Amino acid sequence: MSSNLRLAIALVVALPGHPGAEPIHEAARRGEVGTVRQLLDEGTPVDQFDTTDPYGRETTALYQATKAGRIEVVGLLLDAGADPTLRAPDRRSVHHPLQVAAQFGRTEILQMFLARGADPDAPGKGSTALHMAVVSQHPEIVRLLLDAGARRSIEQPPIAAHLASGDPERGQEIFVSTCRYCHGEPDPAAPSDDRIPNLWDIVGRDIASLEGAIHSDAMKSIEGVWTYDRLNSLIALPGGFVPGTVMQYPPHYAPPDEQGRIDVISYLRTQSDTPAPLPE
Ligand code: HEC
Repeated sequence: MSSNLRLAIALVVALPGHPGAEPIHEAARRGEVGTVRQLLDEGTPVDQFDTTDPYGRETTALYQATKAGRIEVVGLLLDAGADPTLRAPDRRSVHHPLQVAAQFGRTEILQMFLARGADPDAPGKGSTALHMAVVSQHPEIVRLLLDAGARRSIEQPPIAAHLASGDPERGQEIFVSTCRYCHGEPDPAAPSDDRIPNLWDIVGRDIASLEGAIHSDAMKSIEGVWTYDRLNSLIALPGGFVPGTVMQYPPHYAPPDEQGRIDVISYLRTQSDTPAPLPE
C-alpha cells in the first residue's frame, strides 16, 4: 500500500466528517467557535456551500453546526447573517438547517431560528420542517412549529384549469425519470402486496386505498380521492402536503416544476381504461 493511500485511510478514520471539507464547515461541525469567528472575519461567506461532499450533497456551515447541536456556533453564524432556510438548488440539496433542527430534535436551535423569523413552512426538497419532526418523532418540535404558524397541509396553487395544455408524452418521460423507479410502470395487473402503490387509474382513486400496498398512517388519514390539484400538491412537496408520508425524492431526484407536474398528471390521466374528464 502506498504511504499516500495509508495516510488517506488514516484521515478518513480520524475525521468523522468528510476529508477535505471547507474549513468553516468543519469548524462549525466541531463546534470551534474561535475558528468560525476567525474565518468569518477573514471574509469567508457565511452561507457558502460545501461542494466537497463525496455524495454531492451541498450544505452550509449553519447546517453542520445545527446537525451537531453546536448552539454557540449557530448563534455566531446567525449574527453574521446565515439563513436558516437556505439550501442548494434542488438536485444537490439536502435539507435546510430548520429541517435539520427538526430532524435531530435540536429544540433550542429551532427556537433560535423561529425567533429570528424563519418561515416554518419553508420548503425543502419534497418536505418541510414539520414533516421532519413528524417522521423523527419529536412531538415537542411539532408543537413549536404549529405554534409558529406551520400549516398542517401545504397546497399548491390550483392547476386543474391548465391540464388541457399538458403534454402527456413529456409527462411520460418525467414519470420514467422521476417516479417509475419507485412506483413501477402503471399497470392494472401489478401485484400490490408490500409494494409502493401502482399508479394505474390514480386520478379519482380513493387516497391510500390499494389493498396490501405501502400506505403510511399519515396518508391513510386523508379522506377522499386524488383530484388533479391534490396530485399536484403531493408531487410538488410530498412531506408538505402530507407531513409524515413515506414518499420522498431520493438524492439526485428533484420534484418536477409546475409545467412538469401538469405534464406528468396529464400522462397519469391516460393510464386508465376510462380517463377522468378534463376540467372545463
Ligand atoms: C423514492 C420513491 C418514490 C418516488 C421517487 C415517488 N414516489 Fe410516489 N409514493 C412513494 C411511496 C412510498 C408512497 C406511499 C406514501 C404514503 O403512503 O405515505 C407514494 C405515494 C404516491 C401516491 C399516492 C398513492 C395512493 O395510493 O394513494 C401518488 C399519487 C404518488 N406517489 C405519485 C408519485 C409521482 C407522480 C411521482 C413522480 C413525480 C412519485 N410518486 C415519485 C414513493 C415514491
